[in-house]
Amino acid sequence: MTARGATWALGLLCCLLLGAASGQDAGAVPVACNVSSSMALDLAKFAGIWWEIVRQPVGSNFCTQINVTVLNQATDNVLIDTTYSNTLLYPWVNQTMNATLTVPNDTAAADGYNFTYWNPPSYTPYTVFKVLDTDYSNYAFICGYTNATDNSTAFGVVIARNRTLSTAYLDSLESNSSALYQNFANGSMTLITQDQTCVGNGADPSTAFAVFYAVFAFVIYQLTK
Ligand SMILES: *[C@@H]1O[C@H](CO)[C@@H](O)[C@H](O)[C@H]1NC(C)=O
Ligand SMILES: *[C@@H]1O[C@H](CO)[C@@H](O)[C@H](O)[C@H]1NC(C)=O
Ligand SMILES: *[C@@H]1O[C@H](CO)[C@@H](O)[C@H](O)[C@H]1NC(C)=O
Ligand SMILES: *[C@@H]1O[C@H](CO)[C@@H](O)[C@H](O)[C@H]1NC(C)=O
Ligand SMILES: *[C@@H]1O[C@H](CO)[C@@H](O)[C@H](O)[C@H]1NC(C)=O
Ligand SMILES: *[C@@H]1O[C@H](CO)[C@@H](O)[C@H](O)[C@H]1NC(C)=O
Ligand SMILES: *[C@@H]1O[C@H](CO)[C@@H](O)[C@H](O)[C@H]1NC(C)=O
Ligand SMILES: *[C@@H]1O[C@H](CO)[C@@H](O)[C@H](O)[C@H]1NC(C)=O
Ligand SMILES: *[C@@H]1O[C@H](CO)[C@@H](O)[C@H](O)[C@H]1NC(C)=O
Ligand SMILES: *[C@@H]1O[C@H](CO)[C@@H](O)[C@H](O)[C@H]1NC(C)=O
Ligand SMILES: *[C@@H]1O[C@H](CO)[C@@H](O)[C@H](O)[C@H]1NC(C)=O
Repeated sequence: MTARGATWALGLLCCLLLGAASGQDAGAVPVACNVSSSMALDLAKFAGIWWEIVRQPVGSNFCTQINVTVLNQATDNVLIDTTYSNTLLYPWVNQTMNATLTVPNDTAAADGYNFTYWNPPSYTPYTVFKVLDTDYSNYAFICGYTNATDNSTAFGVVIARNRTLSTAYLDSLESNSSALYQNFANGSMTLITQDQTCVGNGADPSTAFAVFYAVFAFVIYQLTK
């Protein structure tokens, strides 16, 4: 490299470092989901199994697995099967809802993906989902909403390739996501149960129990941090 080239490279490195540093600034304002863009995805790398790790605000489903299948065709190329339980005392009685959508490879989607799941016996409300960030092999940050101009309908979810994550790794994900995006909270997102109870024993179909259990799991998470 010539001296001139080296200087130029140093200057660029300097700018990149400054850029990275300002991204972590306490002054940087986390962006709302409705003005975020869904990133350009390498679909083949995004395909496969994901597990929901934390969500804000808390939902009533747990043991949630997301199976993304990518077909080699232009339309209806992404099939999503989301398997979940919503009953604390019957955590192994899970069900699967599915959706089919068209997602162009390697193309950012400013408006995200607005789709409904077939969740027998009915469809879920149309929901916009955006993939804010992913490294494909470990984690992805997802946000969404049902009404773009009502941010009380917005949510943030961290999904991961591993069904459970170490506290240190999860803390790092929450710190990184909350620094950049609204709907993520640093160290206080509600943990989604993914432990052995997902294929355990019990009895009772009340959603109240599921919410209670999610809160309970959250308390345990806080205590063990
Ligand atoms: C999808 O886009 C990625 C770049 O993000 C590229 O490497 C890959 O080959 C593309 N896949 C297909 C099937 O075109
Ligand atoms: C769904 O239930 C089956 C047992 O019927 C279990 O093997 C599987 O792990 C459960 N799936 C999830 C995502 O918990
Ligand atoms: C994911 O979905 C695909 C396509 O339906 C299926 O072949 C595969 O077995 C599923 N994987 C799991 C772990 O359920
Ligand atoms: C859900 O899966 C079934 C069975 O594979 C399929 O017939 C149906 O079209 C799918 N529905 C959606 C909304 O993807
Ligand atoms: C998603 O699509 C449905 C059906 O086309 C539409 O009614 C709804 O307004 C859309 N939602 C958002 C947030 O854009
Ligand atoms: C985003 O949501 C806010 C309310 O939280 C609203 O004022 C704004 O108009 C929305 N922007 C878009 C592009 O929908
Ligand atoms: C979306 O939110 C706005 C602002 O709160 C509200 O005026 C509007 O009625 C909502 N739209 C729907 C379809 O609920
Ligand atoms: C909703 O938008 C308002 C105004 O932009 C903001 O103060 C508030 O923190 C947002 N709420 C969430 C949950 O992001
Ligand atoms: C995922 O699990 C594998 C195997 O246990 C482990 O080596 C890896 O460090 C884990 N990754 C994360 C991000 O937790
Ligand atoms: C969080 O961001 C920092 C700085 O960019 C990075 O070094 C770290 O690997 C990120 N944490 C995770 C879990 O990806
Ligand atoms: C998240 O909390 C940890 C521990 O309190 C702190 O070190 C980190 O700087 C926080 N991250 C953000 C983005 O505020």
